[in-house]
Amino acid sequence: DLSTTIGPNQFSNPLINAAGVWDETALELDELVASTAGGVTTKSATLEPRSGNQRPRYADVALGSINSMGLPNQGLKYYLNYVTTHDASKPIDLSIANPNPMDNLTALQMIQDSSFQGLTELNLSCPNVIGKPQIGYDLAALKQILQQAFKLFTKPLGIKLPPYFDLQQFDAVADILNQFPLTFINTINSVGNGLLVDPTSERTLIEPKGGFGGIGGAYVKPVALANVHAFRSRLKPTIKIIGTGGVRNGTDVFELILCGADAVSVGTTLMQAGPQLFTKLQDELIQLMVQKHYPSLATFRNQLKAA
Ligand code: DHB
Repeated sequence: DLSTTIGPNQFSNPLINAAGVWDETALELDELVASTAGGVTTKSATLEPRSGNQRPRYADVALGSINSMGLPNQGLKYYLNYVTTHDASKPIDLSIANPNPMDNLTALQMIQDSSFQGLTELNLSCPNVIGKPQIGYDLAALKQILQQAFKLFTKPLGIKLPPYFDLQQFDAVADILNQFPLTFINTINSVGNGLLVDPTSERTLIEPKGGFGGIGGAYVKPVALANVHAFRSRLKPTIKIIGTGGVRNGTDVFELILCGADAVSVGTTLMQAGPQLFTKLQDELIQLMVQKHYPSLATFRNQLKAA
């Protein structure tokens, strides 16, 4: 049994696409809905459509990926229309990300006023909008946007966080988050502003921001495990955790749940393998659970032991 719950939403299995992967158009979203994914996230939407940064803006290497997409998306109305009109055979996580924080409140009001009944994921961690900081690293701004958001929004709300690297940061962020009726956090977004270079051509792999971009894939798995585990031990139990970062196989999914994740999302590997990946990950996870005699995710979730 791979089922899991986030807020009012029941997932048949814990696997979801990470926001921004295979989810910009209705065609791609239809493919995710038709796949064996347990849930579907939509590309982080801004109020108006955006074409994003200059290409090349994404590159794969052996251990992961780098991206500086710059929030190319069809605009919130497009995704709101998709999620309120398509046949809801699985939970939908509607992601929003607005470079101007005030626009997030407008976006939340639009979702509040719609018939959408799924999860909303407020992305506070996009590293790629030129000239705009990641809100998740500015704790005063983080608290302020949550205060404003919960004044107008009563539907299930989660936030996508950037990776943190210091135990005092985990304490301070968790302190803030515990003051709000959050349904979930999603941790981690890419490790922002990494740099991958090609030693042959002596060039950066992507064009925007002098080659700096968000790092995903195997590079970031230890950071993801640490962020999931650090927040699981600090957040009140009503705040669920979507663990994201470095999943390439069923064992990686198992490890994120062992560290405390309620659900798991997949970015870089989904980009590389496409939506048929979800069946492989579930088969591998089930095989591992059978070997270990775990009948459900709850029997090993957050059960990590010391060495
Ligand atoms: C983009 C990248 C992110 O990591 C994110 O959270 C949102 C948007 C992007 O570049 O499109």
